[in-house]
Amino acid sequence: MKVLVIGGGAREHALCRSLSLDPDVSALYCAPGNAGIAEVAELRDVDPLDGDAVARLSTELGVDLVVVGPEAPLVAGVGDAVREAGIPVFGPSGEAAQLEGSKAFAKDVMAAAGVPTARSYVCTTPEEVDAALDAFGAPYVVKDDGLAAGKGVVVTEDLTAARAHALACDRVVIEEYLDGPEVSLFAITDGVTVLPLQPAQDFKRALDGDEGPNTGGMGAYSPLPWADPKLVDEVMELVLQPTVDELRRRGTPFSGLLYAGLAITSRGTRVIEFNARFGDPETQVVLARLRTPLASVLLNAANGTLAAEPALSWREDAAVTVVIASHNYPETPRTGDPIEGLAEVAAEDGPDTYVLHAGTRREGDAVVSAGGRVLSVTATGSDLAEAREKAYKAVARIKLDGSQHRTDIAAKAAQAG
Ligand code: AMP
Ligand code: GLY
Repeated sequence: MKVLVIGGGAREHALCRSLSLDPDVSALYCAPGNAGIAEVAELRDVDPLDGDAVARLSTELGVDLVVVGPEAPLVAGVGDAVREAGIPVFGPSGEAAQLEGSKAFAKDVMAAAGVPTARSYVCTTPEEVDAALDAFGAPYVVKDDGLAAGKGVVVTEDLTAARAHALACDRVVIEEYLDGPEVSLFAITDGVTVLPLQPAQDFKRALDGDEGPNTGGMGAYSPLPWADPKLVDEVMELVLQPTVDELRRRGTPFSGLLYAGLAITSRGTRVIEFNARFGDPETQVVLARLRTPLASVLLNAANGTLAAEPALSWREDAAVTVVIASHNYPETPRTGDPIEGLAEVAAEDGPDTYVLHAGTRREGDAVVSAGGRVLSVTATGSDLAEAREKAYKAVARIKLDGSQHRTDIAAKAAQAG
């Protein structure tokens, strides 16, 4: 099978790594990719948001499957353009990707499907905003309706800040604050059949102890020793299957990766958000634990034949990933700094510790930083404590001027189990 992956972050590196290890995959391409992905896939240059260009490239390469990684191309309908060219796509249509692209649409689907989520109001005027903020009280949760690359959500005790964010958005969702730990659960679906993956937890704040600004994610781990073993079954029944059924009923079936961001509250599990693609950095740890070869699962989801797929098989191992971000991330990250130590990790740390690249590019013989999140250092071990130790040992070998990482990824969970 020939596969083209669209995107160029650590999530796509994790996908390409798994696909490159799958004996069914005879050729692997990634566009645009990055310096690390170049070691496992052939890179091609394409604007990932240009559906016609992606469809043309897919046809030229003669691929059997296109996997669209990030949300922006999905919401822009890139999957639709490739499907129209007759090539199977892992990833939802532009319409179904509205589940991530519009918070108001997601709330509407959840209400119709009876999926538990925070109570909310969709507001378009200052009067509606004030009434909603007053109705819920602090802490305030204010969400820009549209895609905002992780910057659209403000959670604050400060009414003035909540109001200012709400008024800066055209359409805004104001909702009840959900207390409790967060869990990310992914499912692969063809629009009918739903195959859940293993749960993971990510760390959204920039600094240790969940301090500092929100980021795209600073690290993740899986499994979750503290979680109820029935969590996956419960979320399948209450969230994933009803959502997939509702989207099919509406005539916009969702195929691809359904990402449920959940809060485990004292009153039960609630959906915080849906995403329409693999999460980053959770994918790095979930795929590290997946034993089933990935390509045929993704192709079956793309072709509507997922019912033929046996249940997924998982390694007993735990996985931890630690993100190394550039100087000044997430505000105005500095790029172009050389990265050292990658060869040492590859040579010294064994096959269960590896570096997935996010924002990197090659400059002559050097690999330099090219984005906010630069690397995602991933390791597996017999438990979280061992995986953590291996990941941080590799982090310590990597030199990137001014870089930052959290030192507490999976620390609490490792103590729990
Ligand atoms: P989202 O983009 O919807 O995932 O929101 C980003 C982050 O804001 C989430 O991961 C949560 O940490 C936080 N958040 C979003 N909605 C809520 C809520 N209703 N209650 C508490 N925290 C929330
Ligand atoms: N890990 C959060 C996200 O992918 O949106």
